[in-house]
Amino acid sequence: MKDTKIFTIDKKNIDFSKIEEAAEILNKGGSVVFPTETVYGLGGNIYIANAVKEIYKAKGRPSDNPLIVHIWNIDQLKELTEEISEVAQLLIDKYWPGPLTIIFKKSSNVPESITGGLDTVAVRMPQDPIALALLEKSDVPVAAPSANTSGKPSPTQGKHVVEDLDGKVDVIIDGGDCKVGLESTVIDVYSNPIMILRPGGITLEDILKDVENVVYDPSLMYLDKGIAPRSPGQKYKHYSPKGKLVVFKGLEDRVKEEINKEGERLTKEGKKVLILTIKENIKYYSKGIIFNLGSIKDYETISSNIFKALRKADELNVDYILSESFSEKGLGKAIMNRLIKASGGNIKRCDN
Ligand code: TXA
Ligand code: MG
Repeated sequence: MKDTKIFTIDKKNIDFSKIEEAAEILNKGGSVVFPTETVYGLGGNIYIANAVKEIYKAKGRPSDNPLIVHIWNIDQLKELTEEISEVAQLLIDKYWPGPLTIIFKKSSNVPESITGGLDTVAVRMPQDPIALALLEKSDVPVAAPSANTSGKPSPTQGKHVVEDLDGKVDVIIDGGDCKVGLESTVIDVYSNPIMILRPGGITLEDILKDVENVVYDPSLMYLDKGIAPRSPGQKYKHYSPKGKLVVFKGLEDRVKEEINKEGERLTKEGKKVLILTIKENIKYYSKGIIFNLGSIKDYETISSNIFKALRKADELNVDYILSESFSEKGLGKAIMNRLIKASGGNIKRCDN
């Protein structure tokens, strides 16, 4: 067990003495959890082999699943790759700092231990002021997967990280809620067509405004189509709550009807049920505990609540989680991707 230090830092009034202490620990090879605008990250210095090993160990992550490298300025990117294409540059100018991860051909500086043996490296410049301050102070590229135990829902609040990693890392910086609440969009701009390997806060529709010929990795949404996803992380069962999650998909009225029926049946059997719904639909449900994800008019709020809801399900120890579905346009694609993965592909069709 490690003696984990927990630093609470206010994003709007950053205590730089704590950032300095955390940066020093990072530079010496320690593990530091920090908030980003997407989810919390478990950071380690990419140039210290033991720091990288500690990340995989603390998370219990398979070693063939590569890590995202976090940077605070473009000079650091030039250390990690020798080739920045025109499209990559355009996306960097428009979306960095922000929730977009770009896959580059890796330079020889990048250790294979963080790329899972691939010849590419995933890089992003986060936007959260605490993340940027920490990266600037330490001034080394920082590998940081989401700071959850492998398989569990990603952490969007400091308390989620403490639940999973207290005693397993050197420092946890609690910086409050993560704004986006879902992990970054991962894009491969060197493939033809250009491919989104993981949907996130920056949507396909956003990117199509400036770049032609972009598609989603076709294997993204479903677990078992016999096509290997291009992003190694997408092949694992993911984000899973302890209870059984069922996603109801189809005609809106039928979805509500079926969730209600199932909620009543399970409650009668003595099961504890959590229903994930939108604000507009709360009134339809008669049984179970209701989790309000937000208004249907506000997909940003809904996405920021998805992992919070799955963590809440664990906290309440529910047996079942029954969820409504969302349109797969815009941010809805990322929301549905996380829900479907978290359910292990357990979709209940409600078409007629
Ligand atoms: O928002 C985020 O991206 C968060 C925060 C902490 O920045 N990080 C994050 O990291 O979600 P992680 O490790 O949980 O997810 C990284 C994803 C995995 O699905 C992994 O397979 C993929 O990115 N990935 C990493 N390197 C890759 C590469 N070279 N090629 C393809 N996919 C890669
Ligand atoms: Mg993750």
